[in-house]
Amino acid sequence: MGSIESQDSPYGLATIPKAPADFLMGLKKDFLADESTQKVALVVGAYRDDKGRPWRVPAVMEAEKRYFEDSSYFKHEYSPILGISEFTHAASQVLLGKDSPALAEGRVCSVQTLSGTGALHIGALLLTRFLPSPTPWAFVPAPTWHLHRQCFEHVGLTVKDYPYYDGVTKSLTFSAMESALRSAPPGSVVLLQVCAHNPTGLDLDEEQWRLIVSLVQEQRLFPFLDCAYQGFASGSLTKDNLAIRLFIEAGVEMVIAQSFSKTMGLYGQRVGCFHYVAAAHSDAPGVVERVASQLAILIRSEMSAAPSYGPRVASIVLNDSELYAEWERNLVTMSSRITEMRWKLRQELEKLETPGTWKHLTDQIGMFGFTGLTPAQCQRMKSKHHIHLPSSGRMSISDLNTANVARVAMSIDEVVRWGLACT
Ligand SMILES: Cc1ncc(COP(=O)(O)O)c(C=O)c1O
Repeated sequence: MGSIESQDSPYGLATIPKAPADFLMGLKKDFLADESTQKVALVVGAYRDDKGRPWRVPAVMEAEKRYFEDSSYFKHEYSPILGISEFTHAASQVLLGKDSPALAEGRVCSVQTLSGTGALHIGALLLTRFLPSPTPWAFVPAPTWHLHRQCFEHVGLTVKDYPYYDGVTKSLTFSAMESALRSAPPGSVVLLQVCAHNPTGLDLDEEQWRLIVSLVQEQRLFPFLDCAYQGFASGSLTKDNLAIRLFIEAGVEMVIAQSFSKTMGLYGQRVGCFHYVAAAHSDAPGVVERVASQLAILIRSEMSAAPSYGPRVASIVLNDSELYAEWERNLVTMSSRITEMRWKLRQELEKLETPGTWKHLTDQIGMFGFTGLTPAQCQRMKSKHHIHLPSSGRMSISDLNTANVARVAMSIDEVVRWGLACT
């Protein structure tokens, strides 16, 4: 047998450059390599119970049982291109409110996507294809979930930041946000997180949302709402969709990405929807029909049709009044445990008289806590204390539990004092 001669081909992928790893992958690798039995990861935005285990949401478990017991489903058939309508319709009712005027007026089209990320992608693709050329800028909060920028740039949008967080006061910089958006060119896309802002845990209040809705109208911006945590912030699906209801009340055209990853604990099943809401005018149903036809082409080209298992299970929860009520209770269980951990961490730090103030931990809401730790302090949390969190200081609060919260607080105390001694 002759040996294969090495060849330098000008074609093919031989010269492909290595891409940087996703930042979460690097953190995961460090955590796995850490041999300490005391190690704690406060990294991934996935809900954990007080024993640090993934929590199977009881309403969803019951729905899965029913799914497998029901032999009437053609379980492995293709889903329709735009998704399973019982699911997308029920999902739009949760998101917008059952009595939403937008639904009653036929102003909404809802399609199934590969969870919230898939909805962001399909939405961004739709906007790049059909917003007037040249495609305007897309504004995202600084800071924001890292995939916002990545998803938007991936389809060719030019992304700019608007101020959102003041690291000194550890609070929202609402007036800076407002003035940045006021000077955004008309037609710009503006990404707004509906609730439980990732990573800061800081949301706008009602008055601030009202101002943003008016500003978006006055400046003729295009709102892209991202709703990944409805019910996870306050425990109430209705309180958490306030921003969406205000935009609808104003009759504004917008798009919304919706995820059930966190709220139903269906992370790997990729359950989500993209919703287009037409402006309130007489031709809205016609616009909706045309947008849906274009979405069908985009979805067909990207994935032919969305998966069916997760959305069918979610659909059972959403369309059964008892399971729906149970799911609402499950959301309260998850959001309350997170709130309890915020208070516990704050109390531990205050007990230790850790320098600084820690009220921001309980002022924030949702899955993430923005601790205010510096990159050097985060590095020391890992190297000295075996507590892993991103260099931004964002902490996944649901990874705290009664067994580790005191140790996490003691570690924060040590790195804060070390930081002060170094300056
Ligand atoms: C702000 C935000 N939007 C969207 C998503 C999308 O999540 P998924 O694709 O799992 O639905 C996430 C997930 O962490 C998120 O934090």
